[in-house]
Amino acid sequence: MRDLNIDLFKKIVSTYSPAGNEVRVSKLIKEEVKGYADEIYNDALGNLIVRKKGEGKKVLLAGHMDQIGLMVTYIDDKGFIRFTNVGGISPVVTHSQRVIFENGTVGVVGCEKLDSLKDLTLDKLFIDIGASSKAEAEERVSIGDVCVYYSEPIVDGKNIISPAIDDRIGCFAMIEILKSIKNTKNDIYFVFTVQEEVGTRGAKTAGYAIHPDIAISFDVTATGDTPKARPMAIKLGHGPAVKIKDNSLLCHPTVKNLMIESAKKHSIPYQLEVLEFGGTDSGAIHLTRSGVPSGVLSFPSRYIHSNCEMVSLSDVSNAIDLSIKILEEEI
Ligand code: CO
Ligand code: ZN
Repeated sequence: MRDLNIDLFKKIVSTYSPAGNEVRVSKLIKEEVKGYADEIYNDALGNLIVRKKGEGKKVLLAGHMDQIGLMVTYIDDKGFIRFTNVGGISPVVTHSQRVIFENGTVGVVGCEKLDSLKDLTLDKLFIDIGASSKAEAEERVSIGDVCVYYSEPIVDGKNIISPAIDDRIGCFAMIEILKSIKNTKNDIYFVFTVQEEVGTRGAKTAGYAIHPDIAISFDVTATGDTPKARPMAIKLGHGPAVKIKDNSLLCHPTVKNLMIESAKKHSIPYQLEVLEFGGTDSGAIHLTRSGVPSGVLSFPSRYIHSNCEMVSLSDVSNAIDLSIKILEEEI
């Protein structure tokens, strides 16, 4: 297995970066890739574009910087905060969690008294930052502020567990790929996108501006390996997943086969992914201009969109290795 930069991983998953406010992660990545790229800039929407120039085909790699969050809608007289979702927030997963705002304010998510768990919806939940009045709460939190799940990342010898693995793990892998890639003729755009969680918005504009010959996104996918899970042929630790489809795209045969052939040639384990829900950046990119052949290399993840998303270190390592092999060939 590769020697993964665990310090960087911990830093990148712990950086506050909800959809629409990705500037902190963008700055961190910029700092990290300085010296490895020919061009680094942010576009108007906030996407971070890191280019490694080449004479060959234009390749767009995408990983999203944003994470899901809770946005303040109302503060009551006692200082309790009501919220709406930014991206896919489940009430079951959110109940009793710790959350953190951009200014460092920490809260916990409480729930009204319920007669049945079936009544658990987001509007029954509230954030408690420990304030005793509306005025006290307003000193630290305003309408429209966004908080994210707050939990220390855990890394043991085998797995990593943290909120925001979706999709900071994609960003992390792209940084490692950029740093490790040696000889390549391809013109590679590493695009760290914004606002994926609210509908692949950043990928849409970046795909249009860059107009690539081919695109690959890096993101998490679900697994079918937990008790009574929805049947799915993906297991943690059995290799990165070559996406065949999700709700946003049917991966282009060229890109899919490129990944599969390369994995076979270099004896890198991989799995085939058919995700029956969800979408990712390639869903937006493949429909830009007159179309872009696009695919996705996925990190199998348990408990997506919770504070304990779990990914295998060996899958991350193999995804990075496979990507480097693909990109070092002339596409
Ligand atoms: Co997500
Ligand atoms: Zn994602």
